[in-house]
Amino acid sequence: MKAANESSWKQLIPPEFLEPNWRFWSFVFISILGSILIVLYTVPVYDGLTDPFYTPTVLILPLVVLFRLTCYAYRKDYHRHLFNHPNTCAADVRLDSGKRGYTGETGFFRIENVHRYFMYTAWGILPFFYYDIYHSIVYTGAITVSLGTVILTINAVAVTVYTFSCHSVRHLIGGYRDCVNCPANRNSKNSLYRFQSRLNGHHEAIAWTSLIMFVFVDLFIRGMVAGIIPNIVLIHGVL
Ligand code: FES
Repeated sequence: MKAANESSWKQLIPPEFLEPNWRFWSFVFISILGSILIVLYTVPVYDGLTDPFYTPTVLILPLVVLFRLTCYAYRKDYHRHLFNHPNTCAADVRLDSGKRGYTGETGFFRIENVHRYFMYTAWGILPFFYYDIYHSIVYTGAITVSLGTVILTINAVAVTVYTFSCHSVRHLIGGYRDCVNCPANRNSKNSLYRFQSRLNGHHEAIAWTSLIMFVFVDLFIRGMVAGIIPNIVLIHGVL
């Protein structure tokens, strides 16, 4: 009776949580540690440049984190390289992926299926990145374009391209068709769909580039707060 009860509660828990899988648990540990460190950060603003973590990302951090965590590009990477499952057929390092049924997007990971709704919330966040560029230009009462402004602009463009190269955007523009690679879709006359499809083909590279860029801009702004990096003024004029 006891064994029956035990197996019924075990069925409710995703297998990743029951396995002694150091990759999975190190991922959980790094995620929790990273979240604590971000919350403990103070809000740095320097020379009118707002760190992208606070625009107003820190206020809605769970949505941003869930948007990135449910992104198909990162999903592929953490399922394959952290959980080590499912492996590509030629790289079965644990030599047991054939024995384990694929459980991705079920149980706990069912949350990955609501990615498109996190994508909609990301659209609402994008204007804040552009407002910060504007703020960095006019905060002195004159027009000031600095190195920081340029870096904030590059970051805003990278985040925008990342958001709009999303698979869910492709699905949305493609008319909710499920088979995006069917001839009817491949030969679509919808030029926006074809353009987004080309962008989408590089989504994984764009995702990692924008994430690395985000961290770089954060460190850059913090470097200026610490007085290590000078914020070189490129253009200065009267409003
Ligand atoms: Fe990566 Fe949507 S699939 S942002």
